Amino acid sequence: MEHEEVRIRRGRRSGLTLIIAIHSRALGPAAGGIRLRRYPDWRDGLTDALRLSEAMTAKNAAAGLGFGGGKSVIALEPGTELTPARREAALLDLGELIESFDGSYFGGPDVGTGPDDMAVVHRETPRVFCLPESSGGVGSSSAPTALGVFESLLAGAAHVFGSDSLRGRTVVISGLGSVGGLLARQVADAGARVVVSDVDESKRTADHEWVTPEKALRTPADILVPAAVGGVLTPELVPELSAPLIVGPANNQLTGDAVAGELAARGIVWIPDFVASAGGVVYVLLREVEGLGHEDALDRVRAIGVTVSRVLDTASANGTTPLREAQSLVDARLISAR
Ligand code: PHE
Repeated sequence: MEHEEVRIRRGRRSGLTLIIAIHSRALGPAAGGIRLRRYPDWRDGLTDALRLSEAMTAKNAAAGLGFGGGKSVIALEPGTELTPARREAALLDLGELIESFDGSYFGGPDVGTGPDDMAVVHRETPRVFCLPESSGGVGSSSAPTALGVFESLLAGAAHVFGSDSLRGRTVVISGLGSVGGLLARQVADAGARVVVSDVDESKRTADHEWVTPEKALRTPADILVPAAVGGVLTPELVPELSAPLIVGPANNQLTGDAVAGELAARGIVWIPDFVASAGGVVYVLLREVEGLGHEDALDRVRAIGVTVSRVLDTASANGTTPLREAQSLVDARLISAR
C-alpha cells in the first residue's frame, strides 16, 4: 500500500474522528464513498480507510473510469452515541474536510450513509455524488451496484457451471444491506433458491430462507455472495467453504491476496470484488460527470459481466488466479496513465 495522502481530523462540530485516505490520483481525481461505522478504536477506521481507498483505485481503474481511489471514514468509537444532531455535525465536518482537497477527492455514499447524508455533506462542498433526485443527483447507487454484481454472477455461473441459468441453484447471500437486499430479489426472480443472513435479526422475513451470519459462509451452496463488510474470506475459512463460485459486492473480501491462490487451489472461482462491485461508481460517474442517460449508463454497468468473463477465461488459460488477471488490468491502466 503506497498512499498519496491521508488527512485525519477531529471534527470541530461533532468531535468525531474523520479520515480521508487518497490512494492514487494517477487516473484523475480520487472518488470513493463515505463510510460511517463503529470501530473499536479510530485507528481501526484508519486501517479501513487505507484498504478501502486502495480498493477504489483498483475498482475505478478496472472499470475504465478516469478517476483515482480514495475513501472517507467517519469513525464512531465505543461510548459515543450517534444522535441525529451529531450525525449531521459529522457530515458537515466531513464536507469541510472534502472541500480542503480542492476537487482532487469526491465523496459518495457507502456503508452507513445514503443520498440524504450526501445532501448534508453538500452544504459544505460540491464535491459529492449521489445527491437525492430532488436535489439534482441520481440518488442511491445501490441498484446499479446490484446490477453489476448480478451480471458478474451470471458470467461466473456460465464459466463454472457451463450455463448462466440460476434455476435450481442455491445462492447464499451474506448481508442484507441496500445492495444485498436487492440482489436477493433479483437472484430469486431468476429462479434460484436463496438463503440469506444478516447480523441484524430484524431483517429476517418470510421471503427467503435464513441462516445465522456464522453459518452463512459454510452453508452448502452453488454460489456464495459476500454482501456485508470485508475481511470475510480468511485462510482458516477456505477449507470449509462449499460453494464453487464466490462473487459479491462487499469490498476487500479477502484478508490478504494469498487467499486468492488458496481458493483457486481448492477449485473455487472467486471473482475479484473490485471488478464485480463497480456498478455503482460506474453508473454514478457516467451520469453525474459524463452526462450519460440512464439506459446508456446501465449498459456500461452490464459490461462488467464482459470484463468478468474475460478475467475468468484469461485466468483459466494462463493457469493464474482471477485476482492476478484483474490486477494486470488495473496495472495496465495505471502504467498507460504515466
Ligand atoms: N461506495 C461506493 C463503492 O464502494 C463508492 C461510490 C459510490 C463512490 C457512488 C461514488 C459514488 O464503490
